[in-house]
Amino acid sequence: MRVNGEPYRTIWVDEDSWSIRIIDQTRLPWSWHVPRLTRMAEAAEAIATMRVRGAPLIGATAAYGLALALREDPSDWGLEEARDQLLGARPTAVNLRWGLDQITGAVTGLAPGDRAAAAYERAGELADSEVATCRRIGEEGLPLLEALGRERPGNEPVQILTHCNAGWLACVDWGTALAPVYQAHDRGLSVHVWVPETRPRNQGAALTVWELSQHGVPVTLIADNAAGHLLGRGRVDLCLVGTDRTTREGDVVNKIGTYPKALAAQANGVPFYVALPGSTVDWEVASGAEVPIEERDSREVTHISGLTERGEASELALVPAGTPAANPAFDVTPAGLVTGLVTERGICEASGSGLAELYPEQAG
Ligand code: MRU
Repeated sequence: MRVNGEPYRTIWVDEDSWSIRIIDQTRLPWSWHVPRLTRMAEAAEAIATMRVRGAPLIGATAAYGLALALREDPSDWGLEEARDQLLGARPTAVNLRWGLDQITGAVTGLAPGDRAAAAYERAGELADSEVATCRRIGEEGLPLLEALGRERPGNEPVQILTHCNAGWLACVDWGTALAPVYQAHDRGLSVHVWVPETRPRNQGAALTVWELSQHGVPVTLIADNAAGHLLGRGRVDLCLVGTDRTTREGDVVNKIGTYPKALAAQANGVPFYVALPGSTVDWEVASGAEVPIEERDSREVTHISGLTERGEASELALVPAGTPAANPAFDVTPAGLVTGLVTERGICEASGSGLAELYPEQAG
């Protein structure tokens, strides 16, 4: 997608053809910084501190991180160590394990001296295929928005509620939940996106508003707890969110705050769709209750960061020091609350049979 008119992906190989560039998302929307990653430990740090985040981008960064590691130590032991470190960076997004498995598969059996080159090649293929996959998700989801557009009088926009950031910043390009929105906007369909702030890290406020606005898509920022009101008043036509892991039975693990939106959507008869690439399905897990939920530092809840009137980045305490706080980063939306899963292979029911029909080779 474009930033100030320039096309960008969220991760790419630098001109030196081996170090990795990322967009530091902890600095958005205030400043644009594209650090170089030269060591596996820097890739792991970028994932853990959320300089890169979003399930597909976490997977791509892990893949490149393993390639960086194999430059340092291509032995079996080095591969194993690097895998463990990267795998521990963030527990919920299954794409992390998927990215690592893809690289491990590509280098296993090769002589140590050939491993780094093979890993870079495979990581590049993965990044390209994620872009193609997200474009397909956009094409598969577009008819949902077009159908709603046909029901609207005049040129009134289709009203979409999303959550967190499941746009191009969360992927390599295009996004998952936002891919159909970009496709609709580019084809001239009038759309408007309600963007919940997504406390505690404010990915909605800081990232989703920024990336949609860069592309010219109309947005309105709302407080997280305003979504139920908007759904109740008929001001949302469709909910469209991403996911970090969807179980083989269709339970959806996504950013904390997704589940209450799904409940409110069902209570008000508003369709609730989840967009995802096949790499986000965890075929080994049936129920969302089995998925590890990342518990992040409680400081993200007790503090808030932003820009002072003088334009300096700053952090403020919201409560007195020592206030007990918990910070579960994801929640589980049961399959029964999900109207459908929008994938690169089409839209299916959020169920074991729905997913098995689209991915027969995985369902076994
Ligand atoms: O904690 P984050 O910012 O990595 O969480 C991101 C989300 O929850 C997204 O909705 C999810 O990764 C899907 S991204 C296409």
